[in-house]
Amino acid sequence: MKKIFVTSQYPGDAVKRLARQYDVQVFPEDRLPTQKELIEYSQGSIALITTVSDLVDQEIIDECPELKIVSNSGVGYENVDIAYATEKGIFVTNTPDVLTETTADMAWVLILSVARRIVEADAYVREGKFKCWHPSLMLGMNIHDKTLGVYGMGRIGTAVARRAAGFNMDIIYNNRGRREEAEKETGARFVDFPALLKESDFIVVAAPLNEETRGRFGLSEFRQMKRSAIIVNIGRGPVIKEADLAEALSEGLIWGAGLDVFENEPEVNANLLKQENVVLAPHIASASRETRGKMIGMAVRSVELALGGELPEHLVNPEVLQSKK
Ligand code: DGY
Repeated sequence: MKKIFVTSQYPGDAVKRLARQYDVQVFPEDRLPTQKELIEYSQGSIALITTVSDLVDQEIIDECPELKIVSNSGVGYENVDIAYATEKGIFVTNTPDVLTETTADMAWVLILSVARRIVEADAYVREGKFKCWHPSLMLGMNIHDKTLGVYGMGRIGTAVARRAAGFNMDIIYNNRGRREEAEKETGARFVDFPALLKESDFIVVAAPLNEETRGRFGLSEFRQMKRSAIIVNIGRGPVIKEADLAEALSEGLIWGAGLDVFENEPEVNANLLKQENVVLAPHIASASRETRGKMIGMAVRSVELALGGELPEHLVNPEVLQSKK
């Protein structure tokens, strides 16, 4: 039987479905494989089911001369050497759409948690510090009637903006190009990047990582933001310079931050860890039971299609079709 390597364990039966036809090997530990393990386990596979944490580089691809597909369970795929995979005629797929709403929910979890200091408040109660109602206890920021700024108005950014209606917010956004559909759907207004910085009370980073977005938010950008502003990142960590964010928070250039993604995951900047006005989550924006089930279901489906000789859905390297002609 031909081998398929799955780099993580998943709940549900989707992966088991593949085992009827293929020799499916799942990384046996409840942790990420090291790069060495990834290479060893991948050897000779015709399909890999990976996550955004697995670096699928030339070395791994070369270890699998019969590799037909890298099916990445996640919407991002910057962990895969797309150019090399394409050159070798390998399909690369992702799992868009199914995680959009769950990820947008998480942006709001972070907005609300930071603005209303909920993590601090929870610790305060647990530590037995709650002695009485006090007019200046744990003062946070209003969310309703404020301005939400979305950086990256793709599917997830749009879903974040849609939720702002319930808070009666003005919505502005900045994106590589205008998104008229999203504007109609959410009432958001396109602004240039300096205006986004200047006018937003809450900035949600929902942009993918590319040369334009890498390091887009640093000290000079934090200086242009309101001192009362909160920044939330559910996109990609390196869009924000983490050391600069720590400095901006400690100097009060902005009021708070909520991060689900980090510049050098899984490491977190040590100065950032010292800040109280930041809520940190371990890259769990898509981590609901329902959505993770859909993601792996979609990733498995792509493998079934590719290995069955059909075109997989959600191909991120359509150029590969040229090499298959
Ligand atoms: C993605 O889908 O790219 C997320 O960041 C991982 O769930």
